[in-house]
Amino acid sequence: MAQTYVAITSPGLEDLLLEELRKMKIKRPKKIEGGVEFEATSRGFYEVLLWSRIAHRVMLRVTEFRARDQRECYKKTRRFEWERLFGEGANVAIRGVVHSSYIYGSGALSKSVMDGIRDRYAFDKSNIKGPFLEQTERGRSSEDQLMLLARCEEDRCELSLEGSSGSMHRRGWRKCTGSAPLRESIAAAMLQAIDWDPATEPLLDPMCGSGTILIEAMRKSLSMLPRLDDHDYGVCAWDNFKPEQFEKLQSLHPQKTIEGLKVIGRDQDAEVLKCAGENAKRAGVKDFVRFEHVAFADGQPPEDGPRGWIVSNPPYGERIEDGEILRELGEGLRERFKGWNVALLLSEKQRPPRIGSVWKERLVFRNGGLNVKLWVGQVPE
Ligand SMILES: C[S@@+](CC[C@H](N)C(=O)[O-])C[C@H]1O[C@@H](n2cnc3c(N)ncnc32)[C@H](O)[C@@H]1O
Repeated sequence: MAQTYVAITSPGLEDLLLEELRKMKIKRPKKIEGGVEFEATSRGFYEVLLWSRIAHRVMLRVTEFRARDQRECYKKTRRFEWERLFGEGANVAIRGVVHSSYIYGSGALSKSVMDGIRDRYAFDKSNIKGPFLEQTERGRSSEDQLMLLARCEEDRCELSLEGSSGSMHRRGWRKCTGSAPLRESIAAAMLQAIDWDPATEPLLDPMCGSGTILIEAMRKSLSMLPRLDDHDYGVCAWDNFKPEQFEKLQSLHPQKTIEGLKVIGRDQDAEVLKCAGENAKRAGVKDFVRFEHVAFADGQPPEDGPRGWIVSNPPYGERIEDGEILRELGEGLRERFKGWNVALLLSEKQRPPRIGSVWKERLVFRNGGLNVKLWVGQVPE
């Protein structure tokens, strides 16, 4: 039976997520603010959960209603047929999120939802044993716990069951980072937004930090799952979970090999490069990516090979010395990287460096509380 699900991403990345879901042959995906709503059977839902590189969370939409205050939210929650969703012995954590709502705070919201569900069983369906319920401001406290997210914006409330467990940008391989790591899902979005061909074009991140962009690029090019196999998915605790179907979908895309794949990470910080190497090893791509301790000013294009892509997120320019980096980048690109394609993620305050041709604003989105832009250009010959 098809049900309604929602995949959440950073505001501004909805179109890329839509494109990703369409490639998975998800029927009628619909763009909403900060995500994509879609109808699917368990198969489609599991595929999105396992294979989406851009979604931060994927949830089953349980019910939605209008509520102007806690009382109305409680009443409408109590009206819903929770007994269809929570079998005997279910253990459910409830997290509230409010935005410009008359419901006063996330704790008040999760309490009204918790009271509504409890009273549904206590008074309306007293012949059925209700679930164990608890309010939380964090994630699940155990692997057998279900996570119900209540979100109210103005008077619109949505209750959803989280199929992921926490944010899916955590892939499991990044245990070590520098001071400003990029979310893995954002790196995946940057890569999806450009036309890099892994078989013919080298990929270079000259300020690679903990290696996020390159490791994401490798795992995608080799058709590896975005997350490591032992990733914790909330859906495994659902009553109707189908482990065989889920497992089968984990090997939906057999791992590929690509002749001539050339991926290079450089950074001026030796410590962070050590992290990058360890992350690449955990991610199973250590043999495909080369890390070099080189400052941008000293770096040449890798050997004589074909021109490729520079994809990077330089420091966001909060400090004076960071501003200098873009000038240095512009000079270095013009002098040494003629003909190369460049994609740079910059904060909205930063202008892309002068490279002698026009930059295109490929993406504009929110990242970690900042407005950022992905600029794409080509250094003239
Ligand atoms: C925003 S961080 C990159 C984060 C990275 N994408 C990640 O996910 O870990 C910027 C990186 O640029 C490096 N960097 C700054 N100036 C540099 C330069 N002139 N040459 C090489 N690397 C530089 C810093 O050491 C830092 O690791």
